[in-house]
Amino acid sequence: MFSTRSVEGRVVLVTGGSAGIGRSIAARLAASGATVVTCARDEVRLRAAARDLPGTVEPVACDLTDRRQRRDLVEGVVRRHGRLDALVNNAGQGRVGLFAELDAEGVEEVVALNVTAVADLTRLALPHLAERRGDVVVVASVAGWVPIPPLTLYSATKAAVDGLVHSLRREVPAGLRVHTVNPGPVRTEWLLRAAGLRPDDEEGRRGRTFGTRPERVAAEVHRCLTARRHRTVTVPRWLGAARLAGVPPLSNALDLVLRSIAPPVARWAHRYQDELVRRARDE
Ligand SMILES: NC(=O)c1ccc[n+]([C@@H]2O[C@H](COP(=O)([O-])OP(=O)(O)OC[C@H]3O[C@@H](n4cnc5c(N)ncnc54)[C@H](OP(=O)(O)O)[C@@H]3O)[C@@H](O)[C@H]2O)c1
Repeated sequence: MFSTRSVEGRVVLVTGGSAGIGRSIAARLAASGATVVTCARDEVRLRAAARDLPGTVEPVACDLTDRRQRRDLVEGVVRRHGRLDALVNNAGQGRVGLFAELDAEGVEEVVALNVTAVADLTRLALPHLAERRGDVVVVASVAGWVPIPPLTLYSATKAAVDGLVHSLRREVPAGLRVHTVNPGPVRTEWLLRAAGLRPDDEEGRRGRTFGTRPERVAAEVHRCLTARRHRTVTVPRWLGAARLAGVPPLSNALDLVLRSIAPPVARWAHRYQDELVRRARDE
């Protein structure tokens, strides 16, 4: 509808490009002529992914939960390429379990990556993006609108970045766009990382969850970068109706229903995760 801009020749920073949705985003944008800089913690896997992807994909090893590494990441892109045209905040993690079962380390890690890193990276990138009339994209989640046990903490972090996006739209200079892409379940290896694993390519392939193909999410991110206005999109589109779940009386009814099924759903999710971990380890 608004698609008259192109990503060709633009410098785009995509976080978490070694796997899953981030890898598909990097592939799609690089194939369309963008220079993509992407990061992850596992440098070996990241470099292999960058080599396999079409076009220009520059890998930078970085743990986004570390403040200094975030700063070096953004400064490095601007120093090497002279500019930054778009930031895609994709890297994120979850933990499965009822909230009271989580440990302190898990709570800190998820908040640090899903909220603190997104906010701080965006803050660091904004002056550069403003110069270029650029774009920020946040890969959030439908779970931010429909908070569901056993993903309570994860849902809360996605609601937090949704709030960040909507407030930012009210203060950024004209011409700079801030988008959210909100997928439902996507076929990636996120549940392995949620179990504390650092999967390689083969393990990741074996341990994927059910859901939409990550390429569909990448296509929506691409559309955001060619749009002339802020976009809030869901993947698939019909999941946009999920926003109604936050409005009474539907939200009150969901409180009652989800509260009664939370413990069995949590047990099912643990069993599903254990099965994926076994598959990933080829046991
Ligand atoms: N999969 C779904 O069903 C789904 C649904 C809705 C929304 N989302 C959101 O989509 C985004 C991508 O999820 P995904 O499913 O593609 O995840 P994934 O398959 O687990 O991939 C995560 C990527 O982020 C990197 N990463 C993780 N922790 C990092 C850290 N501390 N610093 C730097 N990089 C880090 C990982 O590499 P390293 O481990 O090597 O660092 C990997 O490249 C997340 O924000 C997620 O919440 C996913």
